[in-house]
Amino acid sequence: MKISVLSLFPEILKGFFESSIMKRAVEKGLISYDLVNIRDFATDRHHKCDDEVYGGGAGMLMMPAPLGRALEASGARSRFEAPASAPDPAPMPAPESGEAAEGGAASGRSPRTIFLTPSGRPLNQAMARDFAAEDHLILVCGHYEGIDQRIIDAYVDDEVSIGDYVLSSGEVAALVLVDAVYRLVPGVIKGESLAEESFSAHAGGASAGEGAGSEPPVLEGGASGPCLLEYPQYTRPADYGRMKVPDVLSSGHHAKIVRWRLKEQLRKTLAYRPELLAKGGLPEEALKLLREISTEGGDT
Ligand code: ADE
Repeated sequence: MKISVLSLFPEILKGFFESSIMKRAVEKGLISYDLVNIRDFATDRHHKCDDEVYGGGAGMLMMPAPLGRALEASGARSRFEAPASAPDPAPMPAPESGEAAEGGAASGRSPRTIFLTPSGRPLNQAMARDFAAEDHLILVCGHYEGIDQRIIDAYVDDEVSIGDYVLSSGEVAALVLVDAVYRLVPGVIKGESLAEESFSAHAGGASAGEGAGSEPPVLEGGASGPCLLEYPQYTRPADYGRMKVPDVLSSGHHAKIVRWRLKEQLRKTLAYRPELLAKGGLPEEALKLLREISTEGGDT
């Protein structure tokens, strides 16, 4: 997969692409990236990229022309014909980029262009999975009061928000989206690590009553069915201060461990995200555990 991020401040993004799991994914050729400085596509002496808002209002808006040129240079294509008065494109500067990966722009599929904005569709795991299936994502980071609507109309496929709060710019939001997406690209992270985490269809322990050695339980329903938050996890030492790892986890009794984990998932989901449980589709074992939780009152 190729990821192009268009920004007025690409230096905010650089460290992420050069570190940790992303660094390895780039080295393995699973991910390639371009960090494109929109300012490089401004044609005036001062590299101006923002202007006042038509109709009045506070703040400045990102101008369409530099951003449009940066999008075209990254492989995005306008849904409309370029206006006859469009200024000549600036010569394309070399972007900050990772190694070329297979697929990407070379695959022939057109890129998917995403604008990060608080007024977009809220990002969730199903959307991350959908984006992870693309060959090439182009992410547009807004600054100031946002971007000219004509750029959205001409180029943007999805407007995405990372939550109901307003950030000072789109870069951090773009990194959140990149992180949620690239780790789902096959080969980046081990499959079993993905299978048991929050919001995966494999969350939970539907077969908690089965004997030791059974497969990790699966709650049916996938993206539209029940998703549970992850259960608590512990590592050594068994005693940390006066806090102990729950005995069941070192009992070696697989079925009991599976049941305990499902119960903790349900307890946490009930406390933090009850609307996830309201979707229905929970197996009988989970409903039984929920009834147990409701009669317990306080802690375990
Ligand atoms: N830009 C500013 N705030 C944002 C948000 N909540 N989500 C996506 N992009 C943003």
